[in-house]
Amino acid sequence: MRVLAIGDIVGENGLEKLKVTLPKLKEEKNIDFVIVNAENTSGGMGLTFKCFNELQKLKVDSITMGNHTWAKKDIFDFINNPIIIRPANYSEGVPGHGYGIYECKGKKIAVIDLIGRTDMGILSENPFLVVDKIINKISDKVDIIIVDFHAEATAEKIAMKYHLDGRVNFVFGTHTHVQTADEEVTEKGTAYITDLGMTGPKNSVIGMDTEASLKRFITSLPERYKLANGDCILCGAIIDINDECCRTENIDRIYLK
Ligand code: FE2
Repeated sequence: MRVLAIGDIVGENGLEKLKVTLPKLKEEKNIDFVIVNAENTSGGMGLTFKCFNELQKLKVDSITMGNHTWAKKDIFDFINNPIIIRPANYSEGVPGHGYGIYECKGKKIAVIDLIGRTDMGILSENPFLVVDKIINKISDKVDIIIVDFHAEATAEKIAMKYHLDGRVNFVFGTHTHVQTADEEVTEKGTAYITDLGMTGPKNSVIGMDTEASLKRFITSLPERYKLANGDCILCGAIIDINDECCRTENIDRIYLK
């Protein structure tokens, strides 16, 4: 089984890049299951119903979110759709699901979404403890477990790798929009990458217009972020899972211009 995880779609241009790239990529790489992080899709923050529908048309299997989950009010109309997952360590009782269980090639795949607590500006529960609870609950009901850790700090993400080592198939980071070159499969069989990178405008400050971003940094005055234009990149990673024993055997980074 081959699983493709795609990093944060940034803006409608990023979504367009996904639309033109994904069908071919799936065919060329024999992809069975696709996860996309979509929390920056609509105007750079959140996910509207229109963009959600386009992702469904593309037949992505699971959509993960992050700190901008609630940025577009449309989200409350479809947050309970099983295809979409918001961070599991939000306060108990918030709408939506923190993980989803899907069927693929006769296997059950759990996808868990978590949000970090370092420099995220969001009060969330402890992701390390929350993920333990979820794994304890589902581990005998699923064959494969994949975790999107949407977090700013590399240290927090690397710590999560060690925390989940040998207990899940894949831990990938999202949120920083810059792909890291530290992909590996650990000796215990967990694929890991600190950040998948983004699917969005290449010439930008993590997807945002360079002029507006520079103005903020240079003047320290408030300046509205605006999405960048221009050619997009698509970033992600593909893992190979053994169909017999469900052990992760390989990870390849994807960076497409
Ligand atoms: Fe984010």
